[in-house]
Amino acid sequence: MSQSSLSKKPVVLSHSDRALELIAGMTLAEKIGQMSQLNGSGWDVRQGIAEGRVGSVLNEVDVEVVNELQRLAMEETRLGIPLLIGRDVIHGFKTIFPIPLAQAASWNPAMVKQCAAIAAAEAASSGINWTFAPMIDITRDPRWGRIAESLGEDPYLCSVLGAAMVKGFQGDTLGDGGSSIAACAKHMAGYGAVESGLDYNTVNIPENELRNVYLRPFHAAKEAGVATFMSSFSDLNGVPASGNTFLMQQVLRKEWGFEGFVVSDWDSIKELSVHGFTGSDRESALAAINAGIDMEMASSTYAGHLGSLLDQGAVSLEQIDALVFNILQIKLQLGLFENPYTNPSDFPALVNEDYLLSAKKAAQEGCVLLKNDHHTLPLCSDKLQSLALIGPLTDEAYEQMGTWVFDGESRHSRTCLQGVDALVGDKLELHWARGTQTSRSNSDEGFAEAIAAAQRSDAVVMFVGEESILSGEAHCRANIDLPGNQVQLIEAIAATGKSITLVVLAGRPLTLSNVIDQVDAVLYAWHPGTMAGPAIAELLFGIESPSGKLPVSFPRSAGQIPIYYAKKNTGRPPSQHTITHIDDIDGGAVQTSLGMSAFHLDDGFTPLFPFGFGLSYSRFELSELALSTHNLKLGEGLQITVQLHNVGDTEAEEVVQLYTRDLVGNVTRPIRELKGFQKVRLAAGQSQQLTFDLHSDELAFYNQQMQQVTEIGDFHLWVGNSSEQGLWAEFKVV
Ligand code: NOJ
Repeated sequence: MSQSSLSKKPVVLSHSDRALELIAGMTLAEKIGQMSQLNGSGWDVRQGIAEGRVGSVLNEVDVEVVNELQRLAMEETRLGIPLLIGRDVIHGFKTIFPIPLAQAASWNPAMVKQCAAIAAAEAASSGINWTFAPMIDITRDPRWGRIAESLGEDPYLCSVLGAAMVKGFQGDTLGDGGSSIAACAKHMAGYGAVESGLDYNTVNIPENELRNVYLRPFHAAKEAGVATFMSSFSDLNGVPASGNTFLMQQVLRKEWGFEGFVVSDWDSIKELSVHGFTGSDRESALAAINAGIDMEMASSTYAGHLGSLLDQGAVSLEQIDALVFNILQIKLQLGLFENPYTNPSDFPALVNEDYLLSAKKAAQEGCVLLKNDHHTLPLCSDKLQSLALIGPLTDEAYEQMGTWVFDGESRHSRTCLQGVDALVGDKLELHWARGTQTSRSNSDEGFAEAIAAAQRSDAVVMFVGEESILSGEAHCRANIDLPGNQVQLIEAIAATGKSITLVVLAGRPLTLSNVIDQVDAVLYAWHPGTMAGPAIAELLFGIESPSGKLPVSFPRSAGQIPIYYAKKNTGRPPSQHTITHIDDIDGGAVQTSLGMSAFHLDDGFTPLFPFGFGLSYSRFELSELALSTHNLKLGEGLQITVQLHNVGDTEAEEVVQLYTRDLVGNVTRPIRELKGFQKVRLAAGQSQQLTFDLHSDELAFYNQQMQQVTEIGDFHLWVGNSSEQGLWAEFKVV
């Protein structure tokens, strides 16, 4: 039987048998080809494909070109192995959903899954069969531009939502539907902890912390069936991820039993030598093969050196075959051998009304109401006659989409100006003024017009923040205040005495200390995507209540970073009681502690807004916290019940959060850890009993010996609506 007829016969063998059979007939060059991913579709890429030197292509989205590339792979090569077509489909393809950090603020796994499923369907219609998402790097540093792509600071929330994204992209089983694509858990691992929030910087994380915090979402993604992992650009404790055998072999393969494949990040194998970890491309290829990086993205150290490394016995054929096997398995599972070509008419229309509705809902659920004094919001179109809309992000179709929008088009966007106009333009006089040209401008030329717009209006809504270019890869900031002269613009508008609602569009938590007291309400919208306008307008006018909760703590100033709720107690924990004086020195408040505790003289020890925080137009109360037992036996579970009441006068959603604290540990434990959450919609006046199940295994952590254990002893438990509030109980693990 010829090789090509082998690859084209109908599936009668298992995927693994079929992969083995293919490998048995492959030349070394063909194997290395499967391990090589090239960018684009230029002449050299096409020639490489036809010669069997390419296993995957990234960044080609023209479906006709993609089909032609697949045809080259299927028909012009000896074995007819289809290509993986990769793309960064991070928060939408054509219909752009909120940035991942905003999706995380929804605390709604079902919705997050649906956004990924729609993104997959749109991308698949262009022939894309692999996305480089979800990014599940825990980060506690809003200076890092890639916090926008993250799901926030908490390993539990990130695990739940990351797994939901994997299922959304891939479907419940890889390859079980024409509109699902392979997902990629990235960046393994620790990338979100780059020193000083500087992209690509050094990462040092003790193994214990690595396992208790940073690796957890990756393990959850593996359990959710993610097809691929991506190695990080950064080093981890001195060993760059693309040459890190501890991460890729010990943890990923041996401990977790991952059977998919690992792709390097762009050029990151070649960059092993730039890190100073290897001395040449050849050594880099060797280090990456030994770590078990199956596919090389962009650079070509495998193509250049694997042959000679094999000849000289530095790597074995078994090693190479094992990596090729992993790649072929995923191609087989995706069904690409049977269906390599894409017909866009098999898919729903791009940016259709259903997709837009989902995008609007996602944008709404991601918005977090941080402040709402004097019931400023919702605005009432019957009570107002005029409204000023001010700020550089009021009408920015492109900027509202956020980072990573290779394929999104601003022509589909509905801006905040359009959204408010469509909703209330026939009832209210709208006065729109940009105020300042961009978020980074320093000219106050537009201030007078903005002040005049405010003066002519009954109330003001300001759309401020950051353009999309200020966050994302390689876009880090040392100072995370509102950029440019936006603070001065807010001060100038505040001086008019009008009621001000601030809507912040940004890719990260910004430090708002210098404006928070000057405004009446703050709605944090992040970068909400295509449907920002209608989503925000409906929230402003109370058609829907905000329900988002912060997936990350908001520092008062950059000097507090890293600040996160799951901190350790320290030997000298601060509390309001330890602070005895507040002095005013040179116009700045300085707190003096007699308690010698862990706090900053100028910013105290609390964030401006804590993890899990977010207001609603309604009011929720919790009561009757009850535990099924106060003595939880190892290996058993505990049921926690609580009553949630909507005591306000508006139907709304609340996110009820369960936290625990292990009081004494073989290694010190965080003062609170999220263990569960439920998002519940209640009508005004309605109550509901909620039940949380907590198994003793969920209290486990890695101890000094790196064993994952639940220790017997005393625990505290809270059920609340943020990481700082809640009903309290205690129990023991016995
Ligand atoms: C580099 C980024 O770090 C990674 O997240 C992305 O998927 C690749 N480039 C491909 O574009």
